[in-house]
Amino acid sequence: MKTLESKTAEETLALGEALGRQISQGLAMALKGDLGAGKTTFVKGLAKGLGVSEDYYITSPTFTIINEYPASPLTLYHLDLYRLSSAEELDDIGFDDIAGDKHVIVVEWPEILKEISFPFDMEIRFEFDENYNRRISVLASGQEGMNLLSKLVL
Ligand SMILES: Nc1ncnc2c1ncn2[C@@H]1O[C@H](COP(=O)(O)OP(=O)(O)OP(=O)(O)O)[C@@H](O)[C@H]1O
Ligand SMILES: [Mg+2]
Repeated sequence: MKTLESKTAEETLALGEALGRQISQGLAMALKGDLGAGKTTFVKGLAKGLGVSEDYYITSPTFTIINEYPASPLTLYHLDLYRLSSAEELDDIGFDDIAGDKHVIVVEWPEILKEISFPFDMEIRFEFDENYNRRISVLASGQEGMNLLSKLVL
């Protein structure tokens, strides 16, 4: 596990960008933390690091559930499952179509995926500390997650 104290949105963006630059193959990331903790901000940086064109404005998928951003060679799928009430609704949003493939899948409010035992390579936890700064912890599971974590310099 690696932990960073982020005092500004820019620092959270920079973390996402640094991680995105190191990603060379598909993987899935769970983003956990309260409302406004910085998950979507992190994804904006991640998109930049992955090489998503700056013509795309990265917005929260609160209502769309899934946003897709092509990058080369990987496509970024940004999900927010806050509004889903059961894993059955995953069918309606086409989750199966992306889950098996080599994409970068980043999921805010991922708890519902436990029901289908969806395997994540990485988990990122966003917490507020006592000064309202963010404490961001990056945890890896599996070989791909470990490799990526080892390349991340904080
Ligand atoms: N250190 C920080 N890291 C990230 N965001 C910060 C930080 N300090 C202030 N902010 C601000 O906090 C807000 C974080 O919002 P963001 O949409 O990223 O949260 P979220 O975790 O995705 O919330 P939600 O669960 O509602 O989707 C932004 O307005 C951002 O500018
Ligand atoms: Mg969000």
